[in-house]
Amino acid sequence: MKGTKVACSAAPPIVLALLFGASAAAQDPPEGLDQLGTDLFAELLFNNQGTDYAIACSVCHGLGESVAGKGERFYADHTPTSLTAGRETTDRNAQTLAGVFRADVFGWDGAWDSMEDMILEKLIGKQYGWKPGARAEAIDNAAYVLLDEGHNAISGVPYLEQFQEVYGLDLESLEREEVAAAAARALADYTRTIDFSMTSRWDAFTEQNRFRKEPNADEDMLNYAASIESRIFNQEGRNLIRRPEGFTETAYEGFKTFFRVFDLESVGNCVRCHVPPTFSDYSLHGIGSGNFKTPPLRNLPRTDPYLHDGSAATIEEVLQGHMELAEAARAEQEGVDPLFGEIRISEADVEPLVQYLLMLDEVDPEDFRYYLINFE
Ligand code: HEC
Ligand code: HEC
Repeated sequence: MKGTKVACSAAPPIVLALLFGASAAAQDPPEGLDQLGTDLFAELLFNNQGTDYAIACSVCHGLGESVAGKGERFYADHTPTSLTAGRETTDRNAQTLAGVFRADVFGWDGAWDSMEDMILEKLIGKQYGWKPGARAEAIDNAAYVLLDEGHNAISGVPYLEQFQEVYGLDLESLEREEVAAAAARALADYTRTIDFSMTSRWDAFTEQNRFRKEPNADEDMLNYAASIESRIFNQEGRNLIRRPEGFTETAYEGFKTFFRVFDLESVGNCVRCHVPPTFSDYSLHGIGSGNFKTPPLRNLPRTDPYLHDGSAATIEEVLQGHMELAEAARAEQEGVDPLFGEIRISEADVEPLVQYLLMLDEVDPEDFRYYLINFE
């Protein structure tokens, strides 16, 4: 492949399949993958060095404090639409990567059905500053980053050694295109190990009140919602509802609205698309201007702004938009998923829903233990 211009911009899935066979299970990462993944995730050399803005996965999908000083983030970047290495807009908001191993389509509009393909396209494409005509050069560059013994990964262990150890792969025996594909594969395997911690006040609440945390496999969401409703009825009837510290009465009302699917008012219908435990069904839903994947709803304060184009700065704004979608669906507007039409909420429901969604913010294990035993 060296030096050969490949006209097609899509990644070569065949190469990936030949090299590695079927995808490894998310929960069973190979030994050493954590270090290799961490190194590749922060690697700045995949950039077209002719650009002035250094990009790594960790720049747009960062964890912890944001480089721009915009506060904590959770594998996202606090930017409405992420900037490429060439400082062009991607037109899309960076998605959190937690829990994405549960999905089988990737990107807000589900344009990729292979995470490996999507990541390879990042490494040798627009995001890292490579123009469409520069594919061969980009592949050479990606391969060089992994093969060059003079360049140490952040951990100090050369990639050549790490690929040998983790995958038993001798990079030097491969075509350049295969080396680039190997980088994408390792990054996809690593990304599949990233998950939510499931340690929010909401999780403590479900423990304390023995609510079912998620539907069974293939369970109808209406059935799951009904089981939550009957548990609420039961507990309230016996005055047994417990709320962890800080889980207000208002948040509790929001919880009920979120899971309510039948009634005349305060019907969120949210649970039909935002399915626990991550609060996504990983499916596409029509919003009029296109079909977009339901985002998960944990750790929202660390993933703003919201929606595929980052157009909503706050949760309130998202809910205003969802109310408009509900109207549009009831008016049978083309391209709007009828499931939105079953949302029947008013202004009065917004604050409770927002407070409930903030209960999905995850805390460290120590705080979680505190919430488990301290309730109001
Ligand atoms: C320039 C910013 C930027 C960089 C750098 C970047 N991403 Fe992304 N990433 C995005 C954006 C924006 C999206 C949403 C793309 C879309 O919807 O088309 C995304 C989407 C994804 C998705 C799909 C998530 C989902 O829920 O479908 C994965 C997986 C991913 N990125 C992994 C990576 C990895 C691994 C790297 C490093 C090789 C990386 N990204 C580098 C901005 C970035
Ligand atoms: C028909 C499926 C569906 C229903 C019902 C639904 N949502 Fe959504 N939700 C989506 C989709 C799809 C998006 C992304 C839309 C976009 O990118 O423009 C979204 C986005 C969001 C976001 C933004 C999250 C982010 O990271 O960008 C929040 C918050 C949210 N929904 C909350 C709710 C609440 C609360 C309810 C109930 C009142 C609800 N949703 C009902 C499908 C749904």
